[in-house]
Amino acid sequence: MENVIQANGIAKYYGAVTALEGINFHIGAGEIVGFAGDNGAGKSTLMRIVAGDVTHSNGELLISGLFQNNYSPKTARGLGIEMVYQDLALCDNLEIYENIFLGREHKKLNILGLGVLNRTSMLEEAECVLNTLGLSIPSLTEPVSALSGGQRQLVAIARAMANSPHLVILDEPTAALSVAAGRPLLELIRHLPETGTSVMLVSHRLSDLLETTDRLYILRRGSIACELTTSETTEEEILHAMAGVGETDFGRPRLDGPTAFA
Ligand SMILES: Nc1ncnc2c1ncn2[C@@H]1O[C@H](COP(=O)(O)OP(=O)(O)O)[C@@H](O)[C@H]1O
Ligand SMILES: [Mg+2]
Repeated sequence: MENVIQANGIAKYYGAVTALEGINFHIGAGEIVGFAGDNGAGKSTLMRIVAGDVTHSNGELLISGLFQNNYSPKTARGLGIEMVYQDLALCDNLEIYENIFLGREHKKLNILGLGVLNRTSMLEEAECVLNTLGLSIPSLTEPVSALSGGQRQLVAIARAMANSPHLVILDEPTAALSVAAGRPLLELIRHLPETGTSVMLVSHRLSDLLETTDRLYILRRGSIACELTTSETTEEEILHAMAGVGETDFGRPRLDGPTAFA
C-alpha cells in the first residue's frame, strides 16, 4: 500500500541554524508512528513541515505518492492532513460543536435568502463524529471552557477527525494532562487507524509512545538517529538512542552520554 507520507532527505535551515538535515521517513496507511527526541532535536519543525506550516529548505515531500511543490497548510488539509496543536487551540467562548466546525461551518439560506449557520446539521454531524470515535460528551452546546483539559484535547482531535483525514499529526497531546486524564486520549489514538487515519505522534512521555505506536523514529540534533519497531524496543533503548549513548563523535567519547539521564 502507498505511504500516506514519505520524506526523502528533508532539511530545514534557519539562517546558520540547522534544525533538520537528511531526514528520511515514511508513514504507511493505518500506521501510528511516533517521533521522540530531546528538546531541540527538531520534532516540532518536522511536524510543521508535514502540516505545511514551515517550508523545508531541501529534500522531497511526497503525500500519498505525489511530490509536493509549494506545499502550504491549505494544500496539506486538502490532501487529508490535519494537525492538532500542542497548545489546545480551541476557542473557549464557543460551544463544543462550534469548535468542531471552526472555519468550515455548515450554512443554509434563511427565508430572506441570506446565508446563516445551520446549527441543526452541525450538531448532528458533530454527534456522528463523536460516536464514530466512541466519545461521549454530554452536551455539545456547552462552551469549551466547561471542559476538563483531557476533554478539550478529545474535542481538538474530534475537530481534526471531522474531515476524515488520511493523517493526523499530534504534537504532545498529553503534555498538559495528568497520566489518568491522558488515558482516554491514548485509547482514542490507538483506535484512529480503524477509521482509516494514520497518526504522526510526538510525545515526551515514552510510555505514551510505547503504548500507542507501531514504529518510532528517534531524532537527535536534527537527524534521525534510528528507527525502532515499538513491540521490539524498551524505554531504555529509546533513551539511549535519544542521548546517543555508546556512539562517539569523531572518535571522541560523547560527553552527553549516560550522565544526561542519571
Ligand atoms: N523559527 C525558528 N528560528 C530559528 N531556529 C528555530 C526556529 N524553530 C526552531 N528552531 C531551532 O531548530 C531546532 C529544532 O527545534 P524544534 O523543532 O522546536 O525541536 P523540538 O520540537 O524537538 O524541541 C532548535 O535548535 C531550535 O532552536
Ligand atoms: Mg517541540
